[in-house]
Amino acid sequence: MKRIHFKEIDSTNTYLINNYLNLDNMTVVTCDIQASGKGRMNRVWHGDSNSIMCSILIKENLNKIDISIIPLLIAKSLHQVLSAYKSDIKIKWPNDLLIQSRKLSGILVKSIIISSEVKALVIGFGININNKDFNKEISDIATSLFLETNNIFDKEKILKQILTKIENDLKQINNKEIIDYCNKYSCLIGKKVTFSKDNETIIAEVLKIDESGHLLVRNETNIISLNSGEITLLK
Ligand code: BTN
Repeated sequence: MKRIHFKEIDSTNTYLINNYLNLDNMTVVTCDIQASGKGRMNRVWHGDSNSIMCSILIKENLNKIDISIIPLLIAKSLHQVLSAYKSDIKIKWPNDLLIQSRKLSGILVKSIIISSEVKALVIGFGININNKDFNKEISDIATSLFLETNNIFDKEKILKQILTKIENDLKQINNKEIIDYCNKYSCLIGKKVTFSKDNETIIAEVLKIDESGHLLVRNETNIISLNSGEITLLK
C-alpha cells in the first residue's frame, strides 16, 4: 500500500476521487488536518491531529467484489482492531462505530461510476483517538478512545494495524462471515428506531442485518428492508 500523507488537505476522500486516474490501486491518503471532511448525508466530518483520517483507493478486481458489502467489511475490520483498545465498541448499521451511543468512528464509501461501470472505490474513515473534547455541535454525540479510557494511544500504530487488517480482509471477502459479525456486535438488534421513508417518519423494531446486508425492521404492519439511510435509535 503506497501512502501519501498531507499536513493539511480539504478531504482525503475528495483527493482520491479527483486523482484516482493517476494513482495506484490501494493508495492510502492520510492527513493531520482536514479542512472540509466529508461525512454521510452531506454532513461535515470534524477531525484534527488527534484523530485518524484516512482514505483508501480501490481500482482493481471491482467486478469480482460485491461492493454493497464493503461498508460492513470496513466496519468489521475497524471494530476488530479497535476492540483490542476498548472492549464495548458496537457497530451501528450501516457504518458507524459507537461506544455507549456516542460516535467513535464513521465510514464513508464512495463509488466512482462512469457509463454505468464502477471505475474505483474510495473508502474513507475517521476515528476519534486522542481527542480530549469536541466542538459544541457534536460534543453530546461524539467520543474518542481517550475520553473512554483516559489513555493516550499511538495513533500511527493503530492506523498501521487497521491498514494491514483491511488489506487482508479485502483479499478474502466472505459475506456471511461479515454479516454475522456485524449482527453480533450491532447496537441496533431488538431496539426501537426511527427513520424516514417516502417522506414519512416510521418507528420500528430492528430484527437483523439480512444476507444482502440490508437492515430488516418491523413495524405494526410490515417487515421493511432498508438498504441505506439514516437510522436514529430511540431512547
Ligand atoms: C460519517 O460518519 O458520516 C462518515 C465520516 C467519514 C469521515 C472520513 S475522514 C477521512 C475521509 N475523508 C473524508 O472527507 N471523509 C472520510
